[in-house]
This record gives sequence, structure tokens and C-alpha cells, in this order.
Amino acid sequence: MRRPVGEITRGTTGFNRLRRADRWLAAVHGNVLRAAARPLVVDLGYGASHTTTLELFTRLRRIRPDVEVIGIEIDPARVALARPYEREGLSFRLGGFELPVPRPPDVVRAFNVLRQYGEADAWHYWQELCAKLATGGVLVEGTCSEVGHRAVWVGLDRNGPRTLTFSARFDAFERPSDLADRLPKTLIHRNVPGERIHAFLKDWDHAWAVSAPYGAHGLRQRWLAAVETLGATWPVPQHAPLGGRTRWRLGELTIPWSATG
Ligand SMILES: C[S@@+](CC[C@H](N)C(=O)[O-])C[C@H]1O[C@@H](n2cnc3c(N)ncnc32)[C@H](O)[C@@H]1O
Repeated sequence: MRRPVGEITRGTTGFNRLRRADRWLAAVHGNVLRAAARPLVVDLGYGASHTTTLELFTRLRRIRPDVEVIGIEIDPARVALARPYEREGLSFRLGGFELPVPRPPDVVRAFNVLRQYGEADAWHYWQELCAKLATGGVLVEGTCSEVGHRAVWVGLDRNGPRTLTFSARFDAFERPSDLADRLPKTLIHRNVPGERIHAFLKDWDHAWAVSAPYGAHGLRQRWLAAVETLGATWPVPQHAPLGGRTRWRLGELTIPWSATG
């Protein structure tokens, strides 16, 4: 076997850490799995334990009972640790960005993996992974805080990035731009004055500030009011699956990737 493509990095992970992204994936891209003849999902870089891959498997089986999930890790010791947890439809294997899987995956989730690479590598591996997706497939690439209360992820299809999603527990930030520390590698260095992502976060902070009175009814109401304000000047999707109150009330906001650059 050829050497897996990539580098072994820190294996930090944890129970329910990726719940927010999984919930979004199921709601927004569940149709990809429902439509697939033999749905295949890859969890790339699952870390020091099998936990988040098993959680993904459990969540996706609810919407597609025969979905197959393969956890891929570049660290052989972590593959050995995960193997005892294999079961019908869930397996773990050694590999990297080359994705050693039997057919093009409908979904690839890669969380807290690319942040540990350089920016040029991150763009490059985005392209590599997107090219391996099944028709209509999606790559969800993101970063989150230690326990997952703050997360940002990008949704990509075979043509590249499509959406950027912010998600946070209401008590896990003071202002929306606090989520900037979770931006993907491809955006984090562009969060400077003069760049669109910086302007977006600044406007969101302003919308959050002027929505303060809604806080009397709880931070969820304040979030909803801020998103509405922001939607007057930014292309915030207003309807399901990407937008609308059902999503926003979870402490979530998705914008088109095209709005960031
Ligand atoms: C910080 S952990 C993230 C674990 C889990 N995805 C999470 O978010 O909780 C990153 C893992 O990705 C693995 N990794 C890094 N580059 C990889 C690659 N190219 N292919 C497969 N795994 C990789 C590392 O070895 C590490 O175990």
C-alpha cells in the first residue's frame, strides 16, 4: 500500500463535539443520501477515538438505514483503536486525502483536520477531495471549539465551495465575530479590513449590538433579530434548507460562499 497522503496531527476529539455539523448535514444534505443507490459517507481524520464517527453513523442511519460510513485516519495506532467498534455499515481504515474507499463517496466530513495544514495545502486538498465526490456529493469541512459549542464549516460540491455556516451555543460567545477563530484555513487569514469576510463579521457584530433589546426575551430571540437585520444587506438564504427560522433558532447561520470573496 502506498503511503497515505497527509500528516499525522493532534488527535483531539470528544463526545458530541460535531453534533452541530451533523445536524446541519442531515437537514440540508440528507437528500443526497436518500437519493443515492448505495450511500457512502467518509469521516476523514476521526482522531484519537472512534466516537464522532460512530455518532455520525447513528445520526445518518436515522435518515438512511443502509448508509455505509467509513472512518479514515492517517495514524495507524488510531485505526487499531477504532477497529473493535466496527459493525455492519461502519468500518475504519488507514488512509489520507487519497480516500481509499470502494466507490465515490456521497458525503465526506473532515472536521478539525485541515486547520492543522497550511493555507495553500488547504485549498489544494479541498480540490482533491471535491474531485473524488460522487455526482451530487458534498464535502463538509470545518473547525470547532474543544467541546463543539462554536463551529464554522464550509459545504463544497464537485465544483468547489458553496456555503459557509456559523453555529454556536448562545452562551458560547459575546459577539458573533468571536466565531472567527473557527474560520476555515482558507478564510482565516482574510479576516482583515478590506476583505469581505471581515466586513461580514463586522456587520454581524453591529446587527447583534442593535438587537440587544431582544435579549430580554432570551439570546435566541436576539440571534433571530440579528440575522434578520443582517439579511437586509447580506445574501442570507431566507428559506429551507439553508435558511429560515428553523435553522437560525438553533444558533446557526449559513451564507453563500460567494458572499465571502
Ligand atoms: C484534531 S483531530 C479531529 C478529530 C475529529 N474529526 C474531531 O473533529 O473531533 C484530527 C485528526 O485528523 C487526522 N489527520 C490529519 N490529516 C489527515 C489526513 N490527510 N487523512 C486522514 N487523517 C488525517 C489526524 O491524525 C488527527 O487524528
